[in-house]
Amino acid sequence: MKAIVLKDFGGVDQLQEAELPTPGIKDGEVLVEVKAISINPVDIKTREGGGLAEMLKASSPMILGWDISGVVRESESPLFQEGDEVFGMINFPGVGRAYAEYVAAPADQLALKPREVSHAAAAAASLAALTAWQAFADHHRLKSGQRVLIHAASGGVGHFAVQIAKHISAYVIGTSSAENRDFVLGLGADEHIDYKVQDVSKVVSNVDLVLDPLGGANIDVSLKTLKKGGILLSLVAEPKDRLEEKAAAAGMTGKKIYVQSSGEDMEGIAQLLASGALKPTVSKLFPRDKIGEAHQQVQTGKTRGKTVVAV
Ligand SMILES: NC(=O)c1ccc[n+]([C@@H]2O[C@H](COP(=O)([O-])OP(=O)(O)OC[C@H]3O[C@@H](n4cnc5c(N)ncnc54)[C@H](OP(=O)(O)O)[C@@H]3O)[C@@H](O)[C@H]2O)c1
Repeated sequence: MKAIVLKDFGGVDQLQEAELPTPGIKDGEVLVEVKAISINPVDIKTREGGGLAEMLKASSPMILGWDISGVVRESESPLFQEGDEVFGMINFPGVGRAYAEYVAAPADQLALKPREVSHAAAAAASLAALTAWQAFADHHRLKSGQRVLIHAASGGVGHFAVQIAKHISAYVIGTSSAENRDFVLGLGADEHIDYKVQDVSKVVSNVDLVLDPLGGANIDVSLKTLKKGGILLSLVAEPKDRLEEKAAAAGMTGKKIYVQSSGEDMEGIAQLLASGALKPTVSKLFPRDKIGEAHQQVQTGKTRGKTVVAV
């Protein structure tokens, strides 16, 4: 099979196509013929030697990627049979080896792809959608009628988060630049804030939950928007941001969250996709031989929705 291997940590030139044996599968796994993969910021961080590089280093050859949509070709699990169309985020946090024509995937990390959803859209709705789902729906952290502030609402995680929060019937305030204002409102957000010209900490208040994919100074900005007892969920806070300590001092809860592979949660996302409550935006679709360009696109930090690669 063809795969994109990472020769060494570094630039996009380290992503190179290679011919490798098709992986074998163990009990509980399926062999998926991959049709589309989606690219996340963690792919870029890991390619450069950060992110999950320590885990990737232990495998050889190194193959990046976690988000897949494709067709089951062999099954060692009662969950899926040959021919099923499936999607999901494989072995995260860990080594997904998704940049390949075939991937050995734990069946309990996948869900059936709704027929009416393309492989590109399904791959897009894996890591980023799971992150939003696990932030809001798991543990019932976000409830109907609550006010939620979603930073970077036009991005991969953000555009799913807006739609999932609306599905929960929350009141949604989304931030992005003016360029993405109509996009964010079109996703269903009740209010849009242009972070480039408006001071979010002054124009937003009384919020129950904040989803922060930015970290740093955004932690302080976010805390100012929360009501007493509110929750700040950060995807990226670092120890130096003192998230939990600052939140506690202000009478709030601060928590860094990490997305995790889960077939059960993927099933929740599949249901939203099937009902039309969740619509992935694939703003850029690249062919496999342009995967370096897909990385460069994600690296701009300006992607609207998701960047996907057809395999
Ligand atoms: N902890 C976890 O488990 C977890 C899971 C998923 C993602 N993450 C992390 O979360 C971060 C976001 O991921 P993503 O996939 O959503 O990224 P992304 O798709 O690359 O986000 C791009 C979007 O961010 C917006 N943006 C950039 N700067 C902004 C700012 N200062 N204020 C508001 N919006 C801004 C851009 O809108 P404009 O062009 O309009 O500025 C763009 O649409 C990444 O660092 C990722 O690694 C962590």
